[in-house]
Amino acid sequence: MTRFPTAKAAESLRFFTLHFVPTLLRGPLLARPRLSAALNKLDTAKHAARFVGRLRQRYPGAEAVWVRGLRGPMLLALTPSAVQRVLGGPVASYAVDSPEKHKMLGGMQPDSLILSRGGDRVLRRRFNESVLGFGSQEHPHAARLRAIIAEETGQLLAGETELTAARLDPVMQRIARRVILGDAAAGDQEVTDLYLVLRREGNWLGTRRWKAAGIASARERLLARFRAYAGSAEPGSLIARSGAAQGTVPEGQVTHWLLAFDIIAGTVLGTLAMLGADPYRQLEAAKNPEYLRACVLETLRLWPPVRDLYRETTTALDWDGLTVPAGTGILLPAAYHQRAGVANADSFQPESRDLGSRVRGFDAGYFPFSGGGATCAGRDLGLLITSALLGELLDRGRFRLLAPVLRPAGRLPYLLPASAIRLSVQLSPAAGNDVYQSAEHVLGGH
Ligand code: HEM
Repeated sequence: MTRFPTAKAAESLRFFTLHFVPTLLRGPLLARPRLSAALNKLDTAKHAARFVGRLRQRYPGAEAVWVRGLRGPMLLALTPSAVQRVLGGPVASYAVDSPEKHKMLGGMQPDSLILSRGGDRVLRRRFNESVLGFGSQEHPHAARLRAIIAEETGQLLAGETELTAARLDPVMQRIARRVILGDAAAGDQEVTDLYLVLRREGNWLGTRRWKAAGIASARERLLARFRAYAGSAEPGSLIARSGAAQGTVPEGQVTHWLLAFDIIAGTVLGTLAMLGADPYRQLEAAKNPEYLRACVLETLRLWPPVRDLYRETTTALDWDGLTVPAGTGILLPAAYHQRAGVANADSFQPESRDLGSRVRGFDAGYFPFSGGGATCAGRDLGLLITSALLGELLDRGRFRLLAPVLRPAGRLPYLLPASAIRLSVQLSPAAGNDVYQSAEHVLGGH
C-alpha cells in the first residue's frame, strides 16, 4: 500500500449520512431534545459505528481511510494503531484545535485551551492542569467539593420520588457555579443563562453570521462576570487558584469548565441508570467506592460523552511510508473503538474490564478522556466529582430505572441520552437524608 485508501463515493455518502447528519441534527454542542429523541429511536449511532467496522473489513491492513468529512476529505482512524499514532503523537503535529472545534466553540470560548496552539497552548495547558489538579492524587479542594456535593444532593432529593435530567441539571449547574466561582455565585442564574445562549449557538457551527454581534456581547458579559468573581476570589473556589502567566486569559478558560460539568451530569445519570436496573450492583456500588468508580468507567466506555475526537495535522507526517499531508483532518470515533474487539462489548460489565488501570495511562481502545498531550485536564477532578455525587446519591436512597427499558447484560444502545433517563427514588431512613434528619429532629424535639 502506497497511500491511504479512499472510500467509494457510496461508502462515503453512507458514512456521512449515518455519522455526521444525525450529529448535526441532534445538536453537536447542546442536544435538541425532540430531534434527539426521534434520532435515538433509529439508533443511528449504532449503524454509524457498525459501518466503521465494515469499512475496516473492506480495507484490510489500512489504518485509516479517506472519507467525506464536514469540510472535505478527512482520514477516518480505523485501527487502534491509528488512534495510538494520533493521540500518542505531539500536539504540535496533531493539533487539537481543529476547524470543526473552532466552528463549534469559537463563539463561546475563543481563548480556551482546547482552541489554542503554540505558546498560548503551553501556558493555558499549564494553568488548566494546575487549577484542575490534573494528575494529583486528590484535588486540593476535595473536602470543599465533597461538602458542596453533599449539601446540594440533600436539596436535590428532598421530597423527590423521581430523578431525571430536568431535575439534576439545575443542581449540577449550581454545584458548578459554587465549585468554580465560589458560594457567592450559587444563585447566579445569569451566568448559566449566558453560557447556555452561547452553547446553543455553537450547534450552528458559526453559520448564523447575523447572530455574531449578539453572541460576542453575551460572551463579553459572561467574561465580565467571571472577572468580577475572580476579583473577589473566594478561598476554595477554582477561580481563586488562578495564578496565571500573561497570555493565559484565565477567565477565558472558565466556560469550558462549565461545559464539562454538564458532561458529569450525563455520566452520573448513565451510571445510575445501569445501577438502577440491577439492585445487586447498586448495593455493591453503594458500599464499595472502588466498584462505583469501575461502574463510572464502564459507563464512559459504553457512552463516551465526547464521541468523536478531531485533530488536524500541522505538518506532513509519515505513517510507516504513507504520507499524511499537512492540514489533514483526522477523526477518531471513540464510540466505535471502545467497543471494537471487546468481549461482550455491548453489555455493562464493570467487574470484568479493569478500566481503572487503563484510564490513567493512554490506551488506544479506551480513551474517554482523550490521551497524550491533550488528555482532558479535568479528568481527575471530573472523576472525583462524578464519584462523590454518585456516592452521595447512593448513600441517601435507592434508585430504580423506569425508562428507558435497558438490561445491563443485554445489547445496550450506542446512545443513552440523559434526557431519556427516568429513575424512581426511594429515600432511605438510615441514609442521612435531610428529609429524615429533619423528621427525626422534629420527633426528637417532642
Ligand atoms: C466525565 C467527565 C469528563 C470527560 C469524559 C471529559 C472528556 C474530555 C475529552 C474527551 C477531552 C478532549 C477533547 C479532544 O481531544 O478533542 C477533554 C478536554 C478537556 N477537558 Fe474534559 N472531560 C470531563 C470532565 C472535565 C472537567 C470536570 C473539566 C474541568 C472542570 C474538564 C476540562 C477539560 C479541558 C480544559 C480540556 C482541554 C484539554 C486540552 O485541550 O489540552 N473536563 N475532556
